[in-house]
Amino acid sequence: MEWKDKVVFLTGASSGIGEALAIAIAGKGATLGLLARREELLRDLATRCESAGATARFFSCDVTDAVAVRRAADELRREFGKIDILIANAGIGGNNRATRSLEPSAVKQVIDINLLGAVNSVHAVLREMLEHGSGQLVAISSLAGIRGLPGSAAYSASKAGMTAFFESVRLDTAGKGLSVTIIQPGFIKTPLTSGRTNKMPFLMELDDAIPMFLKAIENKQKFAAFPWQLAAVVRAGKVFPAWLYDRVAGRARFRE
Ligand SMILES: NC(=O)c1ccc[n+]([C@@H]2O[C@H](COP(=O)([O-])OP(=O)(O)OC[C@H]3O[C@@H](n4cnc5c(N)ncnc54)[C@H](OP(=O)(O)O)[C@@H]3O)[C@@H](O)[C@H]2O)c1
Repeated sequence: MEWKDKVVFLTGASSGIGEALAIAIAGKGATLGLLARREELLRDLATRCESAGATARFFSCDVTDAVAVRRAADELRREFGKIDILIANAGIGGNNRATRSLEPSAVKQVIDINLLGAVNSVHAVLREMLEHGSGQLVAISSLAGIRGLPGSAAYSASKAGMTAFFESVRLDTAGKGLSVTIIQPGFIKTPLTSGRTNKMPFLMELDDAIPMFLKAIENKQKFAAFPWQLAAVVRAGKVFPAWLYDRVAGRARFRE
């Protein structure tokens, strides 16, 4: 895949995986549209992306605001003519007492950002990609969406929804020149996981994870899950009957 020709719309760009992906993609010479809420971080990131060889624009916006996300995509298309790749990465862990006690407003916030924010992002690019007959939709979902995890009802539900949403979109757009890549990482060291005291098996360094994200995108993989050790365990759990799953997962002390 030739990144130099590509216009990439990346949500959740201001920190963690999004920030590291932006720098890596910038080094390959792509054009980047960086979206998140924290403007100062985006401004600084855009400068670093341009130093690394990319053209970068930034959009300070909340993914839950569908109109604002579309406006950002429109601006990017107006300047560069197209968006080739959407990376729907914006998300929160929602690892707090309110979500754990299933406070409706706290659960809603996780679903609004992680799932509906991704829906807004897809909606902002899909029609034009279909008109062009090309484009790639990338979901940064999670292994936490494969089955419900203890203490993570909101997050697991949001990521299960995200995975199912992108898979449905893949079916609906088959044969129309689009590809859909669903990435399901395990635990990666970012601000989202920092400060956690729970056990995070096979926790990955961000620098080790980024090439795996890039490989999945470049190869237009339908699904990519890593690290392989945790992916194997979680995928095996998918076929466990409920009684066995409850016994094994109920004992797990990790969170999303
Ligand atoms: N780290 C992990 O172990 C792990 C594992 C599996 C999946 N993931 C997924 O990977 C994605 C990135 O997570 P991360 O670990 O890199 O966390 P992070 O460092 O906290 O980054 C999250 C990004 O999402 C943005 N964001 C959050 N709410 C937003 C909103 N309402 N509108 C726009 N942007 C918003 C944040 O920017 P602003 O605050 O500036 O808006 C930030 O740029 C998430 O979807 C997460 O669920 C992470």
